[in-house]
Amino acid sequence: MPVITEIEDLKRIYRRRVPKMFYDYCESGSWSEQTFRENSSDFDKLYLRQRVAVDMAGRSTKTQMIGQDVSMPVALAPVGLTGMQHYDGEIKAARAAGDFGVPYCLSTMSICSIEDVAENSDKPFWMQVYTLKDDDFMQRLFDRAKDAKCSAAVITVDLQLLGQRHKDLKNGLSAPPKLTPQSVANMMTKVQWGLGMLQTKRRFFGNIVGHAQGVEDASSLSSWTAEAFDQSLNWDRIREFRKMWDGPLIIKGIMDPRDALEACNVGADAIIVSNHGGRQLDGALSSIRALERIMDTVGDKIEVHLDSGVRSGQDVLKATAMGAKGVWIGRAYVYGLGAMGQEGVTKALEVMHKELDMSMALTGHTDIKNVDRDILMIPKDFSDNWK
Ligand SMILES: Cc1cc2nc3c(=O)[nH]c(=O)nc-3n(C[C@H](O)[C@H](O)[C@H](O)COP(=O)(O)O)c2cc1C
Repeated sequence: MPVITEIEDLKRIYRRRVPKMFYDYCESGSWSEQTFRENSSDFDKLYLRQRVAVDMAGRSTKTQMIGQDVSMPVALAPVGLTGMQHYDGEIKAARAAGDFGVPYCLSTMSICSIEDVAENSDKPFWMQVYTLKDDDFMQRLFDRAKDAKCSAAVITVDLQLLGQRHKDLKNGLSAPPKLTPQSVANMMTKVQWGLGMLQTKRRFFGNIVGHAQGVEDASSLSSWTAEAFDQSLNWDRIREFRKMWDGPLIIKGIMDPRDALEACNVGADAIIVSNHGGRQLDGALSSIRALERIMDTVGDKIEVHLDSGVRSGQDVLKATAMGAKGVWIGRAYVYGLGAMGQEGVTKALEVMHKELDMSMALTGHTDIKNVDRDILMIPKDFSDNWK
């Protein structure tokens, strides 16, 4: 096993171990992938201010997200089909997050169901809910999350339409994978992945199959998606969803200060500045660029989080310094999961924690709660200057 010191190491192993169809599903953005690329590269445009001769002993990255204790301000973002990246992937990611003391958020489009993850992990997790037309299905999803003792719900508001990713169409993405000569030939080279999949019965959309009509696999998913997702979604409708869930609520997918203000009015506890990891509107600003303006607009009204493009503890530190109280990671933990299962997710979190802790120290801070914009050098044209 090679020495793993950075997220990129996990990505290299992940690429070797997981069938191309699922690697591509994760490692792509919509259309030209401009936003997908810039989500990460824009972090490099922010500089950190080095400080010296400051007492760096006794550091802590502990803080709270929506009032819940976390060992660092990082959460595992909802990722569909995680159980296809590694067998029982959602359960393994939830366990790794629980042991590390960070939140795990289960996707509506997971392979393992809400009940299954609850039964097989011992810390409360968060539940992500897509905005669907079917009120009964929505209410049942919230009720199931409540029965499973989920400690927050996340409503994703940026997927009324499914962004097009060329590779998924060309690969004929499905769960379980469609058997074509190419996909079989590719899967035969992924021995560990295949052996894992043979051990489990969890190969379908656990939250949907048996709960929504007509969804047996990802190919029927695309037609179901076109039907089920609510293209007429508006803020009144989001207020209705708010009434269906009486626990902490997070609104995910905010990129504009005007939408951030709307989200404050629906009674949410937090928003996530997110462009869905560059998988929806190609050509949108990176989320780290959108953050400053949104912080300045609603930072005193609601807790603000960020995701999209985060690949290191330095990125976590920069977003935190800009004001984000929580930073969510998607692909960075999926690389770990695909590479080494639960151990790989733990490794991804360890790598990020070490980078965050040391970078924080070198900016002259010992407590993540005290980090602010003072440690950042922000280029003049960096932030959204929408008027
Ligand atoms: C493979 C994949 C599947 C995703 N599935 C979902 C999903 O089911 N629900 C959701 O709200 N977001 C989903 N997202 C978006 C993530 O929650 C998160 O916003 C994004 O991954 C953050 O960007 P990053 O991967 O660069 O960290 C998905 C992202 C990826 C990469």
